Amino acid sequence: MQIQSNYSLRHLNTFGLESIASFFVEVASVAELTEILRDPEWKQMPKFVLGGGSNVLFTRDIDALVIHPAITGINIIKEDENEIILKAGAGENWHAFVMHCVAKGYGGVENLSLIPGTVGAAPMQNIGAYGVEIKDVVQSVEAVAIADGKTTVFSKEDCEFGYRESVFKKALKGQYIVTGVTFVLSKKPVLNIGYGDVQKTLAEMNVTNPTIKDVSDAVIQIRRSKLPDPAQIGNAGSFFKNPEISSGQYEALKTSFPTIPGYRVSDTMVKVPAGWLIEQAGWKGYREGTIGVHEKQALVLVNYGGGEGTDIKALSEKVQDSVETKFGVRLSAEVNFI
Ligand code: EPU
Repeated sequence: MQIQSNYSLRHLNTFGLESIASFFVEVASVAELTEILRDPEWKQMPKFVLGGGSNVLFTRDIDALVIHPAITGINIIKEDENEIILKAGAGENWHAFVMHCVAKGYGGVENLSLIPGTVGAAPMQNIGAYGVEIKDVVQSVEAVAIADGKTTVFSKEDCEFGYRESVFKKALKGQYIVTGVTFVLSKKPVLNIGYGDVQKTLAEMNVTNPTIKDVSDAVIQIRRSKLPDPAQIGNAGSFFKNPEISSGQYEALKTSFPTIPGYRVSDTMVKVPAGWLIEQAGWKGYREGTIGVHEKQALVLVNYGGGEGTDIKALSEKVQDSVETKFGVRLSAEVNFI
């Protein structure tokens, strides 16, 4: 285990932003992680956990020991003819894990293909796409307390999953480092193909009786057509959450904006696509030097190269203000500002 000082995090965040960590360490096992957390020399130093960096916006340097979990391994915990229980290390690349499951015929994560980031970061914000959230397949999350290096296994209920939320972003924010995630996957998959784009793409692929591989392929095709590849254009996926507004406010908006889309989430609340609101406010494809709003999906802010986190933050505030002026809805960020 090697601790490096003045370490550039540019290659460790999908926005491609510069940020210098005063100290940086990559841990390859729970034992290494515990060792560093209990080391008296590092005890007083603030700690910052960085997984795949696919949901952060760096606006400054990090005066802390940055810990990058690189714990790998995908192990079978239990299986029968219907189900398989798999535990994956926090440092596994999320998409590689999904591809492993798809290749083996384990169903449940195929709709979450091509999401950037690591297995360990996935439960933090309950990643979701095309009608599936990771909470649908998580059995438990293993995490180590930063304060004393003690390992705890959180059940799905303990994780308090919500829309892009978990206990690790709320009551336990900054207190735990996820080291592994246990999933329950199905050997007799029930496909989730209700999402319009998925149905349409499967039809275009001439697939009538889809397999989990077909669903994964369709999702990959949709994502590639709409979302910028972070390897080419810096971004962190959806920058904002889709806001939930009251049915009353939704009906009032519909009078002024008859085409406004909305999905009922409860008897009283409707979720509105932030991408639609941002596009209607005129931002889609907007470019300001090296940064901008993606031309195919207005919910994604981008760094074309050389942009600064502070400029992206300023742009996000302009977007929030103009959407609020036009629709009376304040967007909240999905990305974590550092
Ligand atoms: N829309 C527009 N203009 C845009 C973008 C979207 O009008 O520029 C409209 C679309 O026409 C559609 C609706 O908004 O009617 C929904 O668009 P889309 O299917 O692209 O999904 P989204 O609601 O914008 C959410 C997630 C994505 C996830 C997709 C698919 C959030 C914040 N985002 O986006 O997640 O991939 O659904 O399930 O919930 C992420 O979290 O980083 C992410 C990419």
